[in-house]
Amino acid sequence: MNVQGKHYRTIWIKKGDKKVIQIIDQRNLPHEFIIEDLKSVDEVATAIKDMHVRGAGLIGATAGYGMYLATLEASRNDSFDDFVVKAGEKLKATRPTAVNLAWAVKRQLDAIKKGSSIDKKIAIAFKTANEIADEDAEYCRRIGEHGVKIIEEISKKKGDKTVNILTHCNAGWLAFVDYGSATAPIYAAFDKGIKVHVWVDETRPRNQGARLTAWELGEHGVPHTVIPDNVGGHLMQHGLVDLVIVGTDRTTYTGDVANKIGTYLKALAAKDNNVPFYVALPSSTFDWTVRDGVKEIPIEQRGEEEVKYIQGLCDGEIKKVLLTPKKSKATNYAFDVTPARLVTSLITERGICAPNEKSILELYPEHKK
Ligand code: MRU
Repeated sequence: MNVQGKHYRTIWIKKGDKKVIQIIDQRNLPHEFIIEDLKSVDEVATAIKDMHVRGAGLIGATAGYGMYLATLEASRNDSFDDFVVKAGEKLKATRPTAVNLAWAVKRQLDAIKKGSSIDKKIAIAFKTANEIADEDAEYCRRIGEHGVKIIEEISKKKGDKTVNILTHCNAGWLAFVDYGSATAPIYAAFDKGIKVHVWVDETRPRNQGARLTAWELGEHGVPHTVIPDNVGGHLMQHGLVDLVIVGTDRTTYTGDVANKIGTYLKALAAKDNNVPFYVALPSSTFDWTVRDGVKEIPIEQRGEEEVKYIQGLCDGEIKKVLLTPKKSKATNYAFDVTPARLVTSLITERGICAPNEKSILELYPEHKK
């Protein structure tokens, strides 16, 4: 997508140096646009854990490149295979909820195993990392193609009046390699000339909505309004939301959806107000092993300082300020699970389906047991 008119992905190989991966460091957006070099597995692990990169799709793509860097480092080590396996474990331990991470590491390990020499293993890891990234972008583009039909239909029903879409957190291109999941249908609709307006949940505590979704929608020219997290229910009661589209960090093959904390409350409010609630995801975000999302999906807990402090621009400098009494304890569950019964449909790269085992497996028959 575009930043000041220039096309960017969120991750790429450095021009002229195949041993360096470059990312947009998302911690200081929207105020500073910084490109960071990653040269080792440890740097990649830190970038994921400390959220220089974030969002399920991008976490997966970054892990894919991390495994490629691991093969380069492993070639300077005594035990190549051991080093690569341990690198995979290190990366997987960084963030537990987004299943794309474990998926990308496994895809790399399975591919690397097939190389008959160290040079071939490195070449395979390089190719696989690029494939994961390209596939992520292409699948999001297709999610846009499928999802735009939903927005188009609502727009027609409203006699071409503005379609109001509520989204939570950032499931935009910054959360993937390009396009985004929840935002892909919105960008596609906007590009087709359909009138859209996005309610952007600020998404405490890290404010991915206020900082990232608002920024990327703005760069693309999409009309939007940032709202405090608690406002969605009120807007829905007053007919100001036509649909909700969110992303997901892990969706079970039965249709339960783990996503940024607060998503569940939006789904409850949507149900109570007959507002359709869509979840957009590429297949890398399905967990084909978990049946009951509420009981089985691991929920990441992060440090209390993310709740107690807030970051923003002050006199031209990015600063963190204390929000709570210094001694108050805070808790920071990063995700929650929305049960399938609250979800209208899933928008995937293969099409739109109901959030249940039968419909999901009809789209993905290769995962039938
Ligand atoms: O903690 P984050 O910023 O990685 O969480 C991101 C989200 O919750 C997104 O909504 C989610 O990853 C789905 S879109 C990839």
